[in-house]
Amino acid sequence: MIVFSSLQIRRGTRVLLDNATATINPGQKVGLVGKNGCGKSTLLSLLKKELSADAGSVSLPANWAMAWVNQETPALDVPALEYVIDGDREYRQLESELLVANEKNDGHAIATLHGKLDTINAWTIRARAANLLSGLGFSQPQLTQPVRAFSGGSGACALISRKPCCAGLICCCWTSRPTIWIWMRSSGWKSG
Ligand SMILES: Nc1ncnc2c1ncn2[C@@H]1O[C@H](COP(=O)(O)OP(=O)(O)O)[C@@H](O)[C@H]1O
Ligand SMILES: [Mg+2]
Repeated sequence: MIVFSSLQIRRGTRVLLDNATATINPGQKVGLVGKNGCGKSTLLSLLKKELSADAGSVSLPANWAMAWVNQETPALDVPALEYVIDGDREYRQLESELLVANEKNDGHAIATLHGKLDTINAWTIRARAANLLSGLGFSQPQLTQPVRAFSGGSGACALISRKPCCAGLICCCWTSRPTIWIWMRSSGWKSG
């Protein structure tokens, strides 16, 4: 569970949260609402460990994976499909290690890495990433378009943190208004 205890967060001289205490249990779904500038993003930055509390504490299990959608779409040249895959950091790490092992012709390392890649079902990662984007409404040609092509306006963008494809977490896209996307195991992504 996530526990906020007597939390205080300041930005400059402004106190955004003071003596705030709350517990979020596994399985609970929580919406954070508040007017612009009240500190919603700041609280999320705290959870992402980009900030620390000015007083009190926040705790969550160390082995929990975090996934989030950035507010801004980065202007990247990387194709949408590769960008989704980038979210699986373990896969990317193993992939780069395999490249090095292949260059060195290191049979032992190659075998070990193949075993690890097998374990995370790496060989289907492209198909799973394509399926995920397709469920979000991306057309086949769009999968190879750069992320920057989707910024702003009527575009759509998928932003991931950890293990997007493997865990079936994350991903978001919007047109002119924010859209909540919910992963439905049987039928792909639904918007709401
Ligand atoms: N990096 C920063 N440095 C100083 N003040 C900041 C920074 N980011 C946000 N703030 C201020 O903190 C307050 C809360 O911002 P934010 O958490 O982005 O609000 P919200 O997401 O609820 O709109 C605002 O007054 C904002 O100006
Ligand atoms: Mg915000």
